[in-house]
Amino acid sequence: MDLLIPDKTHDESRQGEALVLEPIPGKNSGRKLYIESYGCAMNFSDSEIVASILTESGFETTGDFTSADVVFINTCSIRENAEVRVRNRLKEFAGAKAKNPGMVVGVLGCMAERLKSKFLEEEKLVDVVVGPDAYRDLPNLIDKVDDGQRAVNVLLSREETYADINPVRLNSNGINAFVSIMRGCDNMCSFCVVPFTRGRERSREPQSIVKECQELFDKGYREVTLLGQNVDSYKWAPETEKIIAEGEKPVLGMDLLDKVLASGEDISGINPVDHSKAGVSFAELLEMVALISPDLRVRFSTSHPKDITDDVLYTIAKYDNICNYIHLPIQSGNSRVLKLMNRTYDREWYINRVDAINRIIPGCAISTDMITGFCTETEEEHQETLSMMDYVQFYFAYMFMYSERPGTLAAKRYADDIPEDVKLRRLQEIVAKQQQHSHVRLLALVGTTQKVLIEGFSKKSKNDYAGRSDQNMMVIFPVGEDYKPGEYVNVLIERCTTATLMGTVIVS
Ligand code: SAH
Ligand code: SF4
Ligand code: F3S
Repeated sequence: MDLLIPDKTHDESRQGEALVLEPIPGKNSGRKLYIESYGCAMNFSDSEIVASILTESGFETTGDFTSADVVFINTCSIRENAEVRVRNRLKEFAGAKAKNPGMVVGVLGCMAERLKSKFLEEEKLVDVVVGPDAYRDLPNLIDKVDDGQRAVNVLLSREETYADINPVRLNSNGINAFVSIMRGCDNMCSFCVVPFTRGRERSREPQSIVKECQELFDKGYREVTLLGQNVDSYKWAPETEKIIAEGEKPVLGMDLLDKVLASGEDISGINPVDHSKAGVSFAELLEMVALISPDLRVRFSTSHPKDITDDVLYTIAKYDNICNYIHLPIQSGNSRVLKLMNRTYDREWYINRVDAINRIIPGCAISTDMITGFCTETEEEHQETLSMMDYVQFYFAYMFMYSERPGTLAAKRYADDIPEDVKLRRLQEIVAKQQQHSHVRLLALVGTTQKVLIEGFSKKSKNDYAGRSDQNMMVIFPVGEDYKPGEYVNVLIERCTTATLMGTVIVS
């Protein structure tokens, strides 16, 4: 079971939503593509890349899978229930395929990468299995299926960043957009499947990122969220290409993990960030994007406590349009558990980073991710997570029970020995505490004035607009004639619920 308080980057309400865009004439003219996404923002962003690649070859998108020629599901493997959800959804596609045997069903993303051709054996209706680095091959793979074969491409790459592909913004409000700045992850947190499903970390060339953000701004977008599993280790240098050419280190697959472990190589930070090396750092990239326009809000996700530098914090403080909001996953408040998790920081280090944020960016909102019931976690250690929450007072949090993922370091090394009912009780305790903290944080904003970027009507009423504050709080206020979506307004906050601020626009 997952309990979470949603924001834009982890918006559960979008899970499984279909994506729709305009067709371009081509080889597959007239054929309809349906694509839905699960998992993190990176997957949603990838679906926009996939749709862009396939519209280039003539596909048009549809929001109705029953009438589609090609049905894609972009999958997540992060916890067991994410995979269960995908399996259930595939059962629903089976009915549609029975009626339309020519329908091509494809599994994309992290679960495709994890299970590879096993997927074809386990799920008879699946025709194509494609990993996150192989999307350029999709038109070719669909050709193969048209020729009566089943097709798999799960090759991971050291260099693919899709930098030149202009993602088509799907079902977009025309105001906020995700922009991928890097792919993969080199961190090897012991509980996590991502390094295996997304491969080695690589940063995207900065000018292509700035160009994409500039174009979004020119089209009227007013907020970009720069995406990466660990944005603070963003590093782009021309030498990066050289290192790739030499192929210094292999892409780490689950099959290679045993070899690496046997060789005694230190797996913590396989490719540690060298902040001293020449090249564009994350702080510099943030500045380059912030300089596009003071009217373009810049957000980013996710920050890793071990890599977030004071340089980044000073850059956030320097530019009004870089939002005062940091998602800084802690996972546990206890140093022994953090070590087992291979997070490479301890409780004191996390406190030091939180203190630095509060000192350099006063009023900056911090949110987090937490896992309960990781292998061998004791009651006292769980209490340390609770006391850490009291120290930081997170604005919100995504909270999960530990879910063992096959092939990960933790699965190989430690027993998943905390009973489900204990994991759940600990989860309920952190959720209850988080609700109190979120409420306290919002209550403290009542009476203040917040600059809000209007995103559209509120979900509940066409009489209200909804938008977000600099600190990423949802703000609801009455519709007015003098302002509209895509514009900034100052809202006097008059009241709040546990997740939303409410107020009225003040004329400044
Ligand atoms: N790169 C991000 C996290 C991406 S996954 C970071 O390091 O912060 C998002 C969250 O899912 C993680 O922060 C973690 O809290 C949770 N998660 C990952 N693997 C998990 C597992 N095996 N069981 C439960 N939660 C998990
Ligand atoms: Fe997973 Fe850790 Fe990488 Fe985040 S930093 S994606 S938790 S391995
Ligand atoms: Fe994202 Fe899930 Fe993959 S969280 S990186 S889609 S395993």
